[in-house]
Amino acid sequence: LAFQTTGRGAVSSLMRALLFLLSLMWDLWSTHCNPTFLCPTNCICHLELHLATCAGANLTDLPAALPPYMEHLNFSFNKLAYIHRQTFRSMRHLRTLLLNDNRIGGVADGAFAPLEALLRLDLSRNNISRLAGGFSLGLGSLRELSLADNRLSGVDAGCFAHLDALLRLDLRGNGIRSLAARTFGAVSTLRYIRLDRNVISSLADGIFSTLRNLEQLGLRGNEIEHLDAGVFAPLTSLAVLDLADNKLKKVDFKALLSVQAQSTHVLLEGNPWTCNCDLQRVFQKLHSVRRLLLDDYDDLTCRQPQELQGHSLRQVDTGLCFAETVTVLIITITVVITVVAAIVMAEKSREKRNKGRHWTEVSEMSFDSQD
Ligand SMILES: *[C@@H]1O[C@H](CO)[C@@H](O)[C@H](O)[C@H]1NC(C)=O
Ligand SMILES: *[C@@H]1O[C@H](CO)[C@@H](O)[C@H](O)[C@H]1NC(C)=O
Ligand SMILES: *[C@@H]1O[C@H](CO)[C@@H](O)[C@H](O)[C@H]1NC(C)=O
Repeated sequence: LAFQTTGRGAVSSLMRALLFLLSLMWDLWSTHCNPTFLCPTNCICHLELHLATCAGANLTDLPAALPPYMEHLNFSFNKLAYIHRQTFRSMRHLRTLLLNDNRIGGVADGAFAPLEALLRLDLSRNNISRLAGGFSLGLGSLRELSLADNRLSGVDAGCFAHLDALLRLDLRGNGIRSLAARTFGAVSTLRYIRLDRNVISSLADGIFSTLRNLEQLGLRGNEIEHLDAGVFAPLTSLAVLDLADNKLKKVDFKALLSVQAQSTHVLLEGNPWTCNCDLQRVFQKLHSVRRLLLDDYDDLTCRQPQELQGHSLRQVDTGLCFAETVTVLIITITVVITVVAAIVMAEKSREKRNKGRHWTEVSEMSFDSQD
C-alpha cells in the first residue's frame, strides 16, 4: 500500500513538473518567438509594468505593433515627424502614450481613434502648428492631454469635441492668439487648464461658460490688457486664477468680483500697473472681498506714472489718494463755509425783515386801537 501511494505521488508530481515545463516553454515561445508577442526592436519591455520604453533612440517610426499586454508606451526623445492614420491600429490597450520631445509636425485626422482606453497623452515639445478637427476622435477616456511647447496659433472649435473625461489640459508655450468661444464647450469635466506663455490678448465672453469644475486656470505670461466683466463668472469651483505677467494696467473689478467660487487665489504680479488713486481704491475694495485672496499683492510694482516706476505698490498705496483726499477736503471745506455763510446771511436778512414787519405790525396795531 505504502509503495502504491508513493508511486501514485511520484507519477502526479512528474505530471505536474511536465505541465510546469510545458507552460514555461509556452511563455518563452509566446514572449520571444511569436511576432505579435514580441517586444519591438529598439524597445525595452518591462513585462510586470506593462511598459514598453523606446525612448531616446532617434527613431523615426513608431513600432508597427506592441505585445497586447503592453499598456504604456514611452516613445519620448525620438525623431518621429508625422502620425499616420493607421499607426495605433494594433495598440488598443494603451493607457499611457508619451510622444513628447519628438518632431511631430502633423497628426492625421482620427489617428488616435483606436486608443479608446488611453488615459494620458503627452505631445509636448513637438512641432504641431494645427490640430485637425478629428484630433480627439476616440479619446473619450483621456484624462490628461499635453500639447505644451508646440507651435499652435489657435485651437479650432471642434478639436476637443470628443474629450468627454478630460481633467487636465496643458497648452503652455504655444503661439495662441485667441480662443474661439466654443473651444472648451465640450470639455466640461476639466479641472485644470494651463495657457501660460501664449500671446492671448483678450478672452471672449463665454469662453469658460461650461467649465463649472475648473479649479485652476493658468494665463500667466500672455498679453491680456483688459478683462470682460463676466468672463470668469461661470467658474464656480475656481481655486487658482493666475494672471501674472500680462499687460494689465488697471484692475477690472467686476471681472474679479464675478468669480463666485468659495475661495480663489488670484495672482497678479508682473503686470504694468498704473499706480493712481483709482488703482488703490479698487485694490482696497478687492481686499475686502473675503473669497478673493491676493497672494502676491506685496510683489506688485508700478510702471506708471514715471516717478513711481519700479516702486512696490504696497509701499506707495496709502499715499496714492493723498492729492485726491486734499482736494476733496478743500472742496468740502469750501462748500461748508459757503453753506454756513449762506445760512448766516439768510438768518440775518430774515431777522432784518422780521424787525421791519414787527414795526409795521406795531404801528398798524396802534392805528387799530385808535379807531
Ligand atoms: C520616458 O523615457 C524618458 C527617456 O528615457 C525618461 O526620461 C522618462 O522618465 C520616461 N518617462 C516615464 C513616465 O517613464
Ligand atoms: C541620436 O542622434 C544624435 C545626433 O544625431 C547622436 O549624437 C546620438 O548619439 C544619437 N543617439 C542614439 C541613441 O543613437
Ligand atoms: C517644424 O515645422 C516647420 C514647418 O512647419 C519646419 O520648417 C521646421 O523645420 C520644423 N522643425 C523641426 C524641428 O522639425
